Amino acid sequence: MSHTVTLLSGDGIGPEITAAVKKIIAASGIQITWEEHLAGKLAVEKFGDPLPQTVLDSILKNKVALKGPLTTEVGKGFKSVNVQLRKTLNLYANLRPVKSIPGTRARYTNVDIVVVRENTESLYAGIENEIAPGVIQASKVITREASTRIAKFAFEYARSHKRKKVSAIHKANIMKLADGLFLKCCQEIAKDYPEIEYNEVIVDNCCMQLVMNPLQFDVMVLENLYGDIVSDLCAGLVGGLGVVPGANIGTEASVFEAVHGSAPDIAGKGVANPTAMLLSAVMMLEHLGENKAAERIMNAVYRVLGEGKVLTPDLRGEATTMQYADEIVRFIEL
Ligand code: NAI
Repeated sequence: MSHTVTLLSGDGIGPEITAAVKKIIAASGIQITWEEHLAGKLAVEKFGDPLPQTVLDSILKNKVALKGPLTTEVGKGFKSVNVQLRKTLNLYANLRPVKSIPGTRARYTNVDIVVVRENTESLYAGIENEIAPGVIQASKVITREASTRIAKFAFEYARSHKRKKVSAIHKANIMKLADGLFLKCCQEIAKDYPEIEYNEVIVDNCCMQLVMNPLQFDVMVLENLYGDIVSDLCAGLVGGLGVVPGANIGTEASVFEAVHGSAPDIAGKGVANPTAMLLSAVMMLEHLGENKAAERIMNAVYRVLGEGKVLTPDLRGEATTMQYADEIVRFIEL
């Protein structure tokens, strides 16, 4: 079966890793028509708008997009297109499976955690005001609706993937109302899933526990800011940002993207690791029902990483992005 997918290559290392991913997907035998669009700073240069309506229309029409990283300037410039996309398309669940892969620079070899991050509110609601000279107030928005929806998503994911435990991560000892509401919603939903163990961990302790003993975690559900930070911490347990995939799931559309950013320090050098974007594309293939192709690609990735002969520099190798991609293609074709 053929599919039409919106493709945002992004900027920085985005175009390099996207080219590698397209090549590997094509080798897996899946027919995908890519509808390519610009977003972020490249779209500002061309259309004067970081997120043109044509991009949103394309994603809503195709219902699925694969996205490379987009640079967001710190403390100035246009609002993050990543955040805008998630909010505009109501991509409320950010799903980040964090699994040890053989051959990576992993600190642990048997981590298997799924981070479910609320994607639309908390401090990312973008409500910042200068309430007096030298005093900035940023508002954290937590709603019953969004918290219940993300808790339900986490438990449904746990049930359908035969997971045993969901941990809600919070700071309700300090933010008694905001995080208190988030926890209350998780507790209410947990009652509907008696077969799944439920516990609550304060976010600072959670970070320490993750580093000391990550195996105690299974599925984690977090509001937006904690989810952002904790999922990067989890990535560090299994080999870094270059190997961790992600998906933003909504009711109208889903956008698949790696966790990492545009890596300006290595952009244009042809050495970026495309694995994270590739694994995001594998999640996309599963979402499209192409499980066989997804499995073939995964097997090839595991073989190449496991052999450890052709690796990008972030994994202590010397291969370029395309040499690594070609090696994966070689194993797919075997
Ligand atoms: P980053 O993820 O771009 O880079 C952090 C470090 O990881 C760098 O040393 C980089 O070289 C390395 N790295 C990241 N991806 C890699 C890959 N695939 N292969 C090898 N090494 C890799 O994070 P940073 O520097 O904080 O952000 C850079 C820009 O990216 C910022 O403008 C930020 O806003 C944006 N960003 C965009 C995201 C998105 O589009 N979803 C997510 C995170 C950041």
